[in-house]
Amino acid sequence: MNGEGEGPRPDKSVDPGPKETESQGELFPRDSFSSGPAAEEPKIKRLVYPIWTENKAKLIERYLYYFVLITKHGTYIDGFAGPQKPGKPDLWAAKLVLESEPRWLRHFYLFDRRRAQVARLNHLKAEQPTTDAYGRLINREIRVEEGDFNVLVHDLLRSGRISGTEAAFCLLDQTTFQCHWSTVKALSDHKAEGEHKIELFYFLATGWMRRALCAVKTGKILENWWGRNDWAKVREMQPLEISQELVRRLKEELGYESVKAWPIYERQSGGRIMYHMIHATDHPHAPHLISRAYDRAVQAKESPEQCLFDFAEDLKEI
Ligand SMILES: C[S@@+](CC[C@H](N)C(=O)[O-])C[C@H]1O[C@@H](n2cnc3c(N)ncnc32)[C@H](O)[C@@H]1O
Repeated sequence: MNGEGEGPRPDKSVDPGPKETESQGELFPRDSFSSGPAAEEPKIKRLVYPIWTENKAKLIERYLYYFVLITKHGTYIDGFAGPQKPGKPDLWAAKLVLESEPRWLRHFYLFDRRRAQVARLNHLKAEQPTTDAYGRLINREIRVEEGDFNVLVHDLLRSGRISGTEAAFCLLDQTTFQCHWSTVKALSDHKAEGEHKIELFYFLATGWMRRALCAVKTGKILENWWGRNDWAKVREMQPLEISQELVRRLKEELGYESVKAWPIYERQSGGRIMYHMIHATDHPHAPHLISRAYDRAVQAKESPEQCLFDFAEDLKEI
């Protein structure tokens, strides 16, 4: 199994590429965009531009840019944070999020189990400016930790660093089956009732799922990943069914109010779905912001003033 670099070659049986047509349903074929029961999901605007693999990190960055304009603070946890393509730093989520302006995310917890990746993360940390354009100190904490996130996540959550009122986001950008379900559950359960849950960006390797499932030799890997004793049935499921089942479980087992699986295509013109980015949130504004981010991640960033003007229009009915 790959820990770094590109995953195994994608499964050619998954090929519902996007088409430029009138409605969201047609632009994103029904099977490619999975969410929970339609009646329970917040409505979002029609989507225009699909995201392709090279922009998956930009989607996360753009969403956090929007969110932080509203919250003015926040914590970013990245469980599998080393760069997928070390030679292409502009595709690296941790770097894009760290360097996004305004630098209002205050706490960063970046994990990777590979020493070379941790060295890259430490280098990235060292490159960050300590003062802003006016010479004022940037009040930020950036922690890089080496080890298995499935273990270290519990130390972070127990540490008391993520309070109930803190807006917190966790990127789970695993290559295939590295992120244990118990880790997802621990993040989901961290906040008390009535507080906003830690939001999740969970990457599912839809494009090479079948090949990866065939390559897994030990059941324990799938058992940890799936987190239930019916894990063996995953081998019989289609990648899109797995995505839909994860969406359902994030809602029904973990209690997230909105969960949507956003397709990430192979290339700009479409092709296979390589990933689903499953976004789980209980914040009422989040579904609109992620929809806007998906639509605009590859375009030039709007100014904070423009965003806040648009948000006032978009979000006033919520
Ligand atoms: C797909 S890459 C992450 C890509 C990154 N988000 C980016 O934007 O380029 C997955 C990373 O997870 C790391 N990793 C794999 N298993 C891990 C584990 N159990 N705990 C922490 N890191 C792990 C790998 O070393 C690799 O750096």
